[in-house]
Amino acid sequence: MPKVVFVSADGQKRWEIDAPSGESLLAVAHANDIDLEGACEGSMACSTCHVIVDAKDIDRLPPPSDEEQDLLDLAYQVSPTSRLGCQIVLNDKLDGLTVRLPRRANNLLLD
Ligand code: FES
Repeated sequence: MPKVVFVSADGQKRWEIDAPSGESLLAVAHANDIDLEGACEGSMACSTCHVIVDAKDIDRLPPPSDEEQDLLDLAYQVSPTSRLGCQIVLNDKLDGLTVRLPRRANNLLLD
């Protein structure tokens, strides 16, 4: 089971979670009451699942699809290591993956 670490936007809180392989980061956040919205439930239409991946981990992820990148371009406070949590599928190679929650999210479904 890969371990994932979520860090709150202000850096004050950390959640270390043993997550099942094959689950999305968004699903893991929801299962553990972590405040990551995911308004479109993973259908890549909202960007409210935006997370900022720790720089040490970004190269362990496959690059974003064009569709994901287009949505990220519209996310709030996007950074070079921003990704959509619904598009990150966990596996043992991602053990230790650390992501920070953004201060807020743009919901493109509602804007
Ligand atoms: S949950 Fe909407 S884009 Fe990820």
